[in-house]
Amino acid sequence: MRTSVSPRYNYAARAQHFRPSPVRGVFDISMKPGMISLAGGNPDLTVLPLEQLGDASARLIRDRGTEVLQYGTGAGVDELREALTDVMSLSGIRSDADDLLVTSGSQMGIELITTMLCEPDDVVLAESPTFVGAIGTFLGLEADVVHVDSDDEGLIPAALQESIRAVHATGKKIGFLYTIPSFSNPTGIRLSLERRRQIVEICRKEGVQIVEDDPYGIISFDGSVVPAMRSLDDSVVYLGTMSKIYSPGLRVGWMLAPRELRDRLQLASEATTICASVLSQHLALEFLTEFDWRASVETATGRYRARAAALVEGLEEHMPSDVRWTNPTGGFFTWLTLNRDINTESLLQRGIDDGIVFIPGTAFYADGQGTDTIRLAYSLASEQDLREGARRLAGVLS
Ligand SMILES: Cc1ncc(COP(=O)(O)O)c(C=O)c1O
Repeated sequence: MRTSVSPRYNYAARAQHFRPSPVRGVFDISMKPGMISLAGGNPDLTVLPLEQLGDASARLIRDRGTEVLQYGTGAGVDELREALTDVMSLSGIRSDADDLLVTSGSQMGIELITTMLCEPDDVVLAESPTFVGAIGTFLGLEADVVHVDSDDEGLIPAALQESIRAVHATGKKIGFLYTIPSFSNPTGIRLSLERRRQIVEICRKEGVQIVEDDPYGIISFDGSVVPAMRSLDDSVVYLGTMSKIYSPGLRVGWMLAPRELRDRLQLASEATTICASVLSQHLALEFLTEFDWRASVETATGRYRARAAALVEGLEEHMPSDVRWTNPTGGFFTWLTLNRDINTESLLQRGIDDGIVFIPGTAFYADGQGTDTIRLAYSLASEQDLREGARRLAGVLS
């Protein structure tokens, strides 16, 4: 079927399903001098040993340029895949490097798995709220996103059971459950091990594939890590990324999937990118093998912890009493609920006028929910700016 969203091009029907990202939409505004941006989930790259990384990059190109500037395999650089199994072991995952596919970031992994498992109108179950970039992909590929209820502790197993029952009653097919159990984007909530077990059990019983997206699991303020769902069930598809622990600009992520599915995912990946950037993969490998990358993540996590505390302090000091927020123990985000009959989208321009950028909560739902919610990212702003940002935001709300 063709669509006529523009008289100029003979667009495919799916063209109209891709929507602009609200995070990208405020990117330029966030850069304005004097503006405090709590919009983007950007990692703090100032913790990186840039000089040494620069030397390592120069050495890599000088000594192995004909290899690292060449095309690579569709699966990814073998040594990197091996090193990534060590990264995942921190989340309790025992894996074989052959089950791993290197991608150009987790966003690509989300696209690949949706392409592989969802026909148009198939259902993707997703916690409410969920990652805006994933929603964009699901809708773009014409999946039907059904949100599963969450509470202060994350996805509710009983609600998942009920949603599966309701979808089955409509006769629709469930492509998969998409979930971010550790320090979720956008809420910052971490799901307990008990709930993870229950969810894995429900999905096993109902034959629902789980896709676990885990960019933030090891960015834990007290150093504790709750085992990934993939560690509870080998059939879970696990998405990892170097974006939050090293560099989003490199565009290196990975997928861990049962072999048969992984092989198909690789074919789809090759059809998109041929291979992930070989140079980027080697830079990621250098970071994981030649540097004390865990110390770097620890330093960054210390900063995120201090920033989250500064933001929460600012909120406690300035916010009206009916506003609630999550108290993150890891990751990059906190989630505000205003408990008012108000659409935060209409407050964004006022916020920008007053020097504060945030993401209105409706971005994190596929169905218009979340009108009285806001996501705040504390990962990059200074503690001072976070306190001032809370004050400016409180001014906008009152
Ligand atoms: C939950 C989640 N998944 C995926 C991504 C995309 O990550 P990548 O840079 O690896 O594509 C993000 C980035 O913000 C994210 O928060």
